[in-house]
Amino acid sequence: MNHDRSVTLFEKAKLLVAGGVSSQIRVNEPADVPLFFTHAKGSRMWDADGNEYIDYIQGMGPNLFGHAPDFINRQVAEDMEKGYVFAGQFERELEVAEMALSMIPMDDATVRFASSGTEIDQLLFRTMRGFTGRPKILKFEGHYHGWMDSVNWSVHPPIDKAGPEDAPIAVGESAGMDQATADGLVICQWNDLEKLEKAFADHRGEIAGVITEPILANTNCIIPAPGYMEGLQQLCRGNGTLLAFDEVITGFRVAAGGAQEVLGITPDLATYAKAMAGGFPIAMIVGRRDVMDYIGNGTVYHGGSFNSNVMSIAAAYASLKHIQQNGETFYRDLNARGLRLMEGLRDVAKSQESDLHVQGLGSVFAISFTTKQEIINWRDHARNCDENKYRRFARAMLKQGIRLSSNGRTHLSSAHTDEDIDKTVAAAAAVLPNL
Ligand SMILES: Cc1ncc(COP(=O)(O)O)c(C=O)c1O
Repeated sequence: MNHDRSVTLFEKAKLLVAGGVSSQIRVNEPADVPLFFTHAKGSRMWDADGNEYIDYIQGMGPNLFGHAPDFINRQVAEDMEKGYVFAGQFERELEVAEMALSMIPMDDATVRFASSGTEIDQLLFRTMRGFTGRPKILKFEGHYHGWMDSVNWSVHPPIDKAGPEDAPIAVGESAGMDQATADGLVICQWNDLEKLEKAFADHRGEIAGVITEPILANTNCIIPAPGYMEGLQQLCRGNGTLLAFDEVITGFRVAAGGAQEVLGITPDLATYAKAMAGGFPIAMIVGRRDVMDYIGNGTVYHGGSFNSNVMSIAAAYASLKHIQQNGETFYRDLNARGLRLMEGLRDVAKSQESDLHVQGLGSVFAISFTTKQEIINWRDHARNCDENKYRRFARAMLKQGIRLSSNGRTHLSSAHTDEDIDKTVAAAAAVLPNL
């Protein structure tokens, strides 16, 4: 497979754009060079050298319906004729809020819109501190909530720097971070109630809120152990702490009501972004009315020029309408196709006695290489998964025309077909013996 044109463009890009990319993870494309793409439609993408790929990155999650679905294109084109940004309200925004609230299990909740997951999680932390008057947010190792100083700690810390098992220290993910922001966090290992109880005991009366990915999409796509989320909710309630789900990946992807629906747990607050507008930039916080009133009456300040812009709201409107019109069949089909891929990969792994491992749900799951039956949190992943082997696998798959992410997270879209799945499984069967 030839990537000559991407190589040429990347040389030019390095002179113009820092590192040649606009988001750091893009340097990790499983190719010799970050690829340049010319266009994408449905499950497929085409690079500047004319190579075609079945894409499982899907924008890192937003493209729930595949690339550039016609029904979103039409709605955005129609609505944007009337203007782009009003710095004022419009009715379509209310239609989206109403549809979203009818799908999410939380009762008597209100919403606010923003433009990215990073941004909406900042509003979440400010709201939790503003409402409770407490200084700290409890965050878990292995969970990602955006790249801001206040939370970009201990996402995937090296284990030898991460501190004791039951009292992890905050490890910054970047140079240049404000060290003082670490004081606003309590870091804890996930999926282990004893460690959580200790964290609450060590910081009694200090924790405003707990933020968790309800299904840990950013580390091995881990579904919490039975009883863990219930225990977390009880501890929060017993300590006057708010519970928040970061549904930036899971929202509108794993079910109409997101991970809340799948797990049967309703948090106090939740944040959404990626899949909500099928690829357009949008984010949303949803929460208990009494908490959200702190934003509503301006006690907790929130602004943004691009919040609820016409194009993003149009895309969200088309996305949620599409999901609602297709009813239960939408998620049933999406998950069934994803499960078919997971099973196909498992069968290939078994027949070749490979340690390829898949974990998660049909619509989003993780591929890793481990002999463990199940990975339960970040330290477990770091100790037991062979990330180099996964990278070799992703690079070999790309040469077969299958585009996998650099971190193993695999996104299905409703545009993926059975034929795509069959090709992907056949490609895995072909590359596994030579890793
Ligand atoms: C769970 C989660 N929260 C927040 C974010 C940040 O979202 P964004 O990239 O839109 O800023 C991400 C991004 O991957 C995410 O996975």
